[in-house]
Amino acid sequence: MRLLVLLASLLNVFLLSVRGQTNLTQWPVHNTGFTDAIQWDHYSIIIGGVRTFLWSGEIHYWRIPVPEVWRDLLEKIKAAGFNGISVYAHWAFHAPNNKTLDFTSGARNFEPILDIAKEVGLFVTMRGGPYVNAETTAGGFALWTTTGAYGPLRNNDPRYTAAWTPFMDEINRITAKHQLTNGGPIVLTQIENEICCQRNSDGSLDTPVVDYMIDLQENARAHDVVIPIITNAPNFNTRSWSTDYLPGPGEQDIYGLDSYPLCWSCNLAECGSGSASTAYADHFDLVSPTQPSFLPEFQGGSYNPWGGPQGGCPDNIGTNFVSMYYRHLAAERVTAANLYMLFGGQNWGGLATNLVSTSYDYSAPIQESRIIADKFYETKLIGLFFRAAQDLVMTDRTPFSTAVATTPNVGATVLRNPETQAGFYVARQSDMKATTTVDFKLNIATKTTGNLTVPVFGNAIRLVGVQSKIIVSDFRFGNNTLVYSTAEVLSHSVVDGQSILALWLPDGEFGEFSILGGSKKREVISGTGGGFHQVGDNLVLSYKQQTTQSVLQFDNFRVLLLPRSLAYTFWAPTLTNDPIVTPETVVFVNGPYLVRSLALNGSLVAVTGDIANAATLEVFAPTTYTSLQWNGKTLATHKTSYGSLKASLPKPGLDAATLQKSLTLSGWKFSVALPEADAEYDDSKWVIADHLTTPNPTQPLTLPVLYADDYGFHTGVQIFRGRFAGEATGANLTVQGGTASGWSAWLNSDYIGSFPGIVSAASGALALSFENATLVSSGENVLTVVMDHSGHDQRDAALNPRGILGATLLSTSNTTFTKWTIAGNAGGESNIDPIRGVIAEGGLHAERLGWHLPGFDDSLWATRSPSDGIDNGTIAFFRTTSRLDVPIGYDVSLEFILNSPPGSVLRAQLYVNGYQYGKFVPQIGHQIAFPVPPGILNVRGENTIGLSLWSQTAEGAQVDVQWNVLGVYESAWDPGFDASALQPGWTAERLQFA
Ligand SMILES: *[C@@H]1O[C@H](CO)[C@@H](O)[C@H](O)[C@H]1NC(C)=O
Ligand SMILES: *[C@@H]1O[C@H](CO)[C@@H](O)[C@H](O)[C@H]1NC(C)=O
Repeated sequence: MRLLVLLASLLNVFLLSVRGQTNLTQWPVHNTGFTDAIQWDHYSIIIGGVRTFLWSGEIHYWRIPVPEVWRDLLEKIKAAGFNGISVYAHWAFHAPNNKTLDFTSGARNFEPILDIAKEVGLFVTMRGGPYVNAETTAGGFALWTTTGAYGPLRNNDPRYTAAWTPFMDEINRITAKHQLTNGGPIVLTQIENEICCQRNSDGSLDTPVVDYMIDLQENARAHDVVIPIITNAPNFNTRSWSTDYLPGPGEQDIYGLDSYPLCWSCNLAECGSGSASTAYADHFDLVSPTQPSFLPEFQGGSYNPWGGPQGGCPDNIGTNFVSMYYRHLAAERVTAANLYMLFGGQNWGGLATNLVSTSYDYSAPIQESRIIADKFYETKLIGLFFRAAQDLVMTDRTPFSTAVATTPNVGATVLRNPETQAGFYVARQSDMKATTTVDFKLNIATKTTGNLTVPVFGNAIRLVGVQSKIIVSDFRFGNNTLVYSTAEVLSHSVVDGQSILALWLPDGEFGEFSILGGSKKREVISGTGGGFHQVGDNLVLSYKQQTTQSVLQFDNFRVLLLPRSLAYTFWAPTLTNDPIVTPETVVFVNGPYLVRSLALNGSLVAVTGDIANAATLEVFAPTTYTSLQWNGKTLATHKTSYGSLKASLPKPGLDAATLQKSLTLSGWKFSVALPEADAEYDDSKWVIADHLTTPNPTQPLTLPVLYADDYGFHTGVQIFRGRFAGEATGANLTVQGGTASGWSAWLNSDYIGSFPGIVSAASGALALSFENATLVSSGENVLTVVMDHSGHDQRDAALNPRGILGATLLSTSNTTFTKWTIAGNAGGESNIDPIRGVIAEGGLHAERLGWHLPGFDDSLWATRSPSDGIDNGTIAFFRTTSRLDVPIGYDVSLEFILNSPPGSVLRAQLYVNGYQYGKFVPQIGHQIAFPVPPGILNVRGENTIGLSLWSQTAEGAQVDVQWNVLGVYESAWDPGFDASALQPGWTAERLQFA
């Protein structure tokens, strides 16, 4: 403690001497020592010599395991103004056992996402592990490390080191291959995630953890990873691994902080009542003053936990959140941030933890169905601004103050570029959660025109509740300067050597901007709502934002004034794939739901994108271009009076209602699927559970050890069969499948009871009576326990066992179990389906025998629908096929809706072409809607749909399964690719797993 205090006070002396000054030369420029292609200092990351605002979003290839879909998502990310993505790997996804690493099958080869990022023009932050957290099973640890045989994990234990080294060898080999210096998109790489701490509470080094971090760094460098290694601190308090803070061993190049100011969960109670700090600038000044202020994870949304609200929590973290908090990042002088998640995707198969179920939508800007809507569009407004505001990459900061505003409880944080004096006034109400509407004027200091209170002529600036605006001053665009603008800057393009500046305001609000040096020409070409004022040499336009676009021509530039409603469908595609965008490469496009790309070709402007409705396509192209092409089709084009090209995009021929009508699910086949409950069932090929010891630190209540992981089964439903001969009246069972999991038991085929699951506990203990079951008079009885599995816990809790913790017979004659057998996923760790992987399925009879796979022959099965269900406590499986014929030229978002009668107690799993893409547990809630992406679904072809239905009551259960169309888009992106390689079919090999 003493050492810590001493060092902290020395550090404070240092900090006092540097804080608040603008002497540029005092901030050292760092590099890794291996390359200067990427440098960094107090202000920003410098990539290829260019200061860069890194605006990035998180996407996980393993949560969208269809490489073809990655292009759709990355094009959407680029279109929203981002210049980067961040990608977690997932050790368990690649390592089914301790001898196999798969980086080649299906989505396990993630190099295409790096190639597409490069093509589309996005930097990549690689976050390879070995540990990622990510609300996924065991936080991404290889599941075979959860037994305890590799130590407590995340330290320098040689067993753990030997386990992760081959995986990180491969991650780092791929990272090096695709890093910037080798022509790839990867600019940063992270080792570990949210790991605490470098030091113990007494200030001494936590050597096992420090050595682990050194080993991880050395592994990266040994594979010629030369780019900066970053860290992602879990909170404000750990203050570990920064070279600027209590320097010591194991530190990374660039320190980062993760932050979820409005709760990382849709269940707000999980975050406690205290308000999270958003004082990032102070934190970075303390912990990493010579490094850029960097948030490797900033709230993109929130995960929806088991039992959370149906549909997630988009309202809590919607457009207002985006407006306030993403601008707040700039206010805190952050110049590198990554939204977690930008696209969440799905926890298919066994990827879920006991925190969350199938959906990982995360209420993110891009929905799990891939649909973009208001949150995406609001995010695009700020993304395009960050891209256009070149002076934002180097600023000094004056903290938030109400002194700069003319209305109480309104203020701004002021950022000023020390080289150009460009100013950014990030305005908001003092209370970031205030819902009142306030009007105010702002006292600004300009380099060119002195001190002003703006707007000078027009109506005040307005903030409607949770909203923030960035008011610029001395804003440079091309050869021109805005003295100020109370409308926000959207983007900047240069065509024919002339600038076009796009400004936006909420519809009907008032704006005012001042042009330095004025303009001889001041032609309102389209729309008005305003008046000009000459102020000294400057020209001021004060206006009310119309519901249509206004276009103004000045001496050598145009200004577009857009209402928010049109700014949402305003795009700024680029002509090159350089993630660092210069205005010369930007061409403005107006109108469609999405613009993916733009190319200039002869006299043609070729635009690609998506529409759901009729739209007008408008392009601000160089004058030599005369025709517009949309998704390869040349359009009747006319030139407007202000020089843009316009054409009509007719209403698409297919709409959601029409597609919905064409979709049916019928012809269901049915089989009971619990033969294991029969005492006579042949389980001679099952694993005998006979261990009397376990490496797990949690010791079992009874022997033998019945932890599934100890026998090589790590995911999905597991089935345990215990034999006994003699008298017994019941059994005491404690079964641990994780939060919200449940279990049921049968004695000699007779259903004897269930633990339905609760969100507050990982295990359930029951005393089950044999009263309603029949014991055999001689020979063996079999108690069958089926346990659902909601994944492994994260962090050091990953070792918490899954399986039966204790099993005792209630018997007056001391009858005991004589033998236990266990079944999990077919083949255990042997990866019999290398495409879907061991993570994909569990040990239900139907899964082991491959009934969920395409091509399984169900012709002898009875006809019965899941809505007819089952009428006792058992497990059944339903199958059908459904053909989709989505026409070429359309993208669709489809989901399945599962419903059951009120009061149902059941566990159902939905399988689409062999992938488990839905887990439905109505007694827990919340999820009833299960989107399934193309590639898992064949949008032009046959689909095999399966449903496992497990009644957890003696009364049986029913589930209604329906298609639902979420969206239909005429699209440049084709969802109808051949995905057969991702959907291997049934083979007779499955029969051995009965
Ligand atoms: C800026 O800082 C450097 C390094 O601390 C110092 O040598 C230099 O004199 C300072 N310049 C000014 C103008 O204060
Ligand atoms: C791999 O796993 C097997 C089976 O659990 C075990 O016997 C073996 O020791 C492990 N090998 C290593 C190198 O950890």
